[in-house]
Amino acid sequence: MTRTTPYGTLEVLNLEEIFKRTCQALTAGAANKPRTIGLTGGSTPKAFYKWVIDNQALTAAQVGHCHWYTSDERHVPLESEDSNFGNAARMLLDPLNVESGHRFPWDTKKTPQEAAKALNEAWNDRYGAEKCFDVCFLGMGDDGHTASWFPGSPLMKANLTNNFTALAVPGKGDRLTITPAGLTRCTQVIIVVTGEAKADRLGRVINSHYTPHTQPVQLLKNCATQVSWWVDEAAASLL
Ligand code: 6PG
Repeated sequence: MTRTTPYGTLEVLNLEEIFKRTCQALTAGAANKPRTIGLTGGSTPKAFYKWVIDNQALTAAQVGHCHWYTSDERHVPLESEDSNFGNAARMLLDPLNVESGHRFPWDTKKTPQEAAKALNEAWNDRYGAEKCFDVCFLGMGDDGHTASWFPGSPLMKANLTNNFTALAVPGKGDRLTITPAGLTRCTQVIIVVTGEAKADRLGRVINSHYTPHTQPVQLLKNCATQVSWWVDEAAASLL
């Protein structure tokens, strides 16, 4: 099933199809130009990394061609199990020997504000401030958050112009995240939502009123033409 929504094109796929599509998204594009990828956190990316390695679904050359970032991050050392980049490194980039020059974790040795400033400056020097990731992966929490945009976050009203920012999330610590403006500058945004626990929220996000302050993922409306929702049947059951 494919459906056009105010927040992007939504397709219902099984998990293996989602993972195969993810591989295609990572390997599309020009052979002579590295692809910039914003990975996300949560359980789905970890399942994807394991699937890739178990099934030899990507070669070292394919993975090594990309420039790897995370679209949001907890302000913890890479060694932490809570580090989104650390998990990607341990489960995907290390097994496929991706060179350090293609890895761009947030510098969590700096303060959160300094880390965000450093990433914005390095990004702008390397690729230009007017663009963000070639492919940005996102997930959706059952509270309607995406990236580190949580319900009630001041981020939704902040009108930030940079691609990346730091913010303290009450009860969840310091976070580093792509901004709503940064997301609109991504060429492709892929949001993967799986499992029955997400069904109620997904139904409300897609079918209810636009209330991004309480359902931040609805900010995808601002870049709907670039957004693909890949959802499994369980998550789609209340659409
Ligand atoms: C994170 C992400 C978060 C995640 C969703 C969905 O680092 O945890 O910022 O937005 O993508 O919570 O996670 P699942 O993949 O577990 O559904």
